[in-house]
Amino acid sequence: MSITLTGVAKDYASDVKIGPISTEIQAGGVTALVGPNGAGKSTVLTMIGRLLDVDAGTITVAGHDVVNSPSKTIAKILSVLRQENHFVTRLTVRQLVGFGRFPHSRGRLTIGDERYISEAIDFLDLTELENRYLDQLSGGQRQRAYVAMVLAQQTDYVLLDEPLNNLDMQHAVAMMKQLRRAADELGRTVVIVLHDINFAAHYSDKILAMKDGQIVQHGTPEQIMRDDVLTEIFNTDIQVIQGPNGPLAVYY
Ligand SMILES: Nc1ncnc2c1ncn2[C@@H]1O[C@H](COP(=O)(O)OP(=O)(O)OP(=O)(O)O)[C@@H](O)[C@H]1O
Ligand SMILES: [Mg+2]
Repeated sequence: MSITLTGVAKDYASDVKIGPISTEIQAGGVTALVGPNGAGKSTVLTMIGRLLDVDAGTITVAGHDVVNSPSKTIAKILSVLRQENHFVTRLTVRQLVGFGRFPHSRGRLTIGDERYISEAIDFLDLTELENRYLDQLSGGQRQRAYVAMVLAQQTDYVLLDEPLNNLDMQHAVAMMKQLRRAADELGRTVVIVLHDINFAAHYSDKILAMKDGQIVQHGTPEQIMRDDVLTEIFNTDIQVIQGPNGPLAVYY
């Protein structure tokens, strides 16, 4: 079942208003959320993930009203990686990823939980680092540890705000393939904020573009990967050329 937003708005200040937004994010696929800095992407993602209150409108995930459903219910179906404020404490990678199991285990990890934790650590290529403290990792390694925590939660809906930050090319591609597989093989619904439009076009089914607090485009990569459409969204000259694996946006 899809994610629906109906008249959703956030009024930060009289001159900073996000929405009202009404849209439906399809279930069982990868949707990329793109747009310039300040467009409202993180605001929308954190409202869907009920980490930020909505000022108007309703959001449903799999038919559950996210504002009025118990946190416990939502935590079992939806996980969120925030863009900022990742807590860096004296936790090891494995302990952090273990927190992803909290909605299921309530603090008592079962053998099943341990298996999900190991799997997520392995997916993100962190096995050799699992006993390292987070403050002893590089930026990209730490980013992968947070994504592992989100994946370990094993929810049907996964929201990720710029998970490719700090990742090298190998790990960026590996992460996108992993998310693609989660959608294709496990039926997960993945919503991912990306700045790299070429990654968005290649790995997602739908692209949702925001600008100035509004949704300005919502379509397939073919519909969005056009000179005029991208130039308008991103306020900069963009040319789309045909690459070996599909369209490529060139902007420098
Ligand atoms: N807590 C807040 N108080 C006031 N204004 C805010 C707050 N958080 C965000 N904003 C403003 O809301 C707008 C949308 O911010 P948001 O973080 O959703 O953008 P974004 O699309 O995620 O941008 P980026 O690509 O830079 O992460 C911006 O103008 C931002 O300055
Ligand atoms: Mg953001």
